[in-house]
Amino acid sequence: MNHRSWMRSQGFTSEVFDGRPVIGIATTWSELAPCNVHLHRVAESVKRGVWQAGGFPLEFPAMALGETLLRPTAMLYRNLLAMEAEELIRANPLDGVVLLSGCDKTTPGLLMAAASVGLPAIMVTGGPKLNGKYQGTDVGSGTAVWRWEEDLLAGRMTQEECAFAEGCMSRSDGHCMTMGTASTMASMAEALGMQLPYSASWPAVDSRRYETAQRAGQVIVDLVEHDVTPAQIMTRAAFENAIRVNAAIGGSTNAVVHLLAIAGRLGVPLELGDFDTLIRDVPTLVNLQPSGKYLMEDFCYAGGLPAVMRELGGLLHGDALTVTRRCVAENVRDAPCWNRDVIMPLAAPFQPAGSGTAVLRGNLAPDGAVIKQSASSAHLLKHRGRALVFDSPEDYHAVEADPDLDVDEDTVLVIRYCGPKGYPGMPETANVPLPAKLLKRGVRDMVRICDGRMSGTAYGTVVLHVAPEAAAGGPLALVRTGDWITLDVPARTLSLDVPDDELAARRAAWTPPPPAASRGWTWLYTKHVQQADTGCDLDFLTGGSGHQVGRDSH
Ligand code: FES
Repeated sequence: MNHRSWMRSQGFTSEVFDGRPVIGIATTWSELAPCNVHLHRVAESVKRGVWQAGGFPLEFPAMALGETLLRPTAMLYRNLLAMEAEELIRANPLDGVVLLSGCDKTTPGLLMAAASVGLPAIMVTGGPKLNGKYQGTDVGSGTAVWRWEEDLLAGRMTQEECAFAEGCMSRSDGHCMTMGTASTMASMAEALGMQLPYSASWPAVDSRRYETAQRAGQVIVDLVEHDVTPAQIMTRAAFENAIRVNAAIGGSTNAVVHLLAIAGRLGVPLELGDFDTLIRDVPTLVNLQPSGKYLMEDFCYAGGLPAVMRELGGLLHGDALTVTRRCVAENVRDAPCWNRDVIMPLAAPFQPAGSGTAVLRGNLAPDGAVIKQSASSAHLLKHRGRALVFDSPEDYHAVEADPDLDVDEDTVLVIRYCGPKGYPGMPETANVPLPAKLLKRGVRDMVRICDGRMSGTAYGTVVLHVAPEAAAGGPLALVRTGDWITLDVPARTLSLDVPDDELAARRAAWTPPPPAASRGWTWLYTKHVQQADTGCDLDFLTGGSGHQVGRDSH
């Protein structure tokens, strides 16, 4: 009576307590997360589907992480969202859960939570914005910002033009509509089998986004009735599919840390090296910004992710189970492609096999680093240059406009102390703009190396996720301005050309930076966060605890 009576305050009739499945709808809606601001409307469509299928839907909030507003970085809070959602799903009397996400970290955060609880779950991402339109051309979220920032610095664009362009870029609900991290992670959720086919690409304002949400409401009731859990769907085969799909779509490097973290919650063996070996025979098929030309709206009209997965055919595990309770091959068997300039055929791809994310190792990154080859300049993939070192992006920004900065196009910019412990939270600071004096000379790219991340909407020859990070005593902390660094992507190496005895002397003189915080979440995070090569989860959050709370009294 306690449980029923209090719920009756919301005006439910007594039939809802007849034992039907109780479906939680975890929504990351917030006006502070503009990419997710429409999710309360998406939730209404999910509820329709749950009611239709004989379930009892109950919506509840989970932390909304808005990429553009949270400081120092939304990544600092991904694990907190995962922790909060996990406990809410477990502590409430739910039989299944629908996960509503959109902006970058909300998708992996909720998948990590659902993986650790183990109740039946389905994801519904909020969908991309409509294509940005400026001066008669399409402009992509984020990707255009980096270009306009460079154009502004180089004097090719005025402040007034920039201010007008802002509104043209973001003209509807939805997350970034380039193949940035949000679109990538939505595609990863679909490739993993955790959201319905086509879910990743319907624009946020398209009626079919809401139709899909309603369908997801029906499907979660079916998953509960058949007790299909995330662990049955997100298997090693599903992760291999996701990694290969990420290469085919030219997806974000952020997928590396997020997929590693989700796998860690399930005990699925997945290593950084898998991201390199699994993609060597996978070409990039999708011609989307930042690697290519088009945007998510075009991707949707061209056939979306099912068309890509059908094209990949035997490169995927077709027998992997999905939330439809059918396997991947069945889901995509008849998926049409309507535009071969957006989704190219396997036989004539957009970029050749092996041009996706590469994993580098060497004395500068003993535990690995990554580089997005498709967003890099071909002539810089083998490069030797002298380091110009900065201990923070702020230190670099203070001098980037200096006309006397001692830098040329062969210089290797090193931006460090940007890792999970260092900044803290591993922000997207790696793709710093080029020095103004080089931009004015027409230089458009140079090698940058960082222990932080890069926005999925960004481009450039940028080595990311260097592990161990500088703040954890990684060799990146020992580099000095003027040292020679060799990047050899074909050989998958990143080397600091300094003798071992000299490095040992520098290490003896190195002192770790003071902790970023002495209390609260940031203290807990920096004390327990793991390095990028294992996904940046907290060490005590890996694995799962099931869906019972201690001695369950309900
Ligand atoms: Fe939210 Fe890009 S800022 S998806």
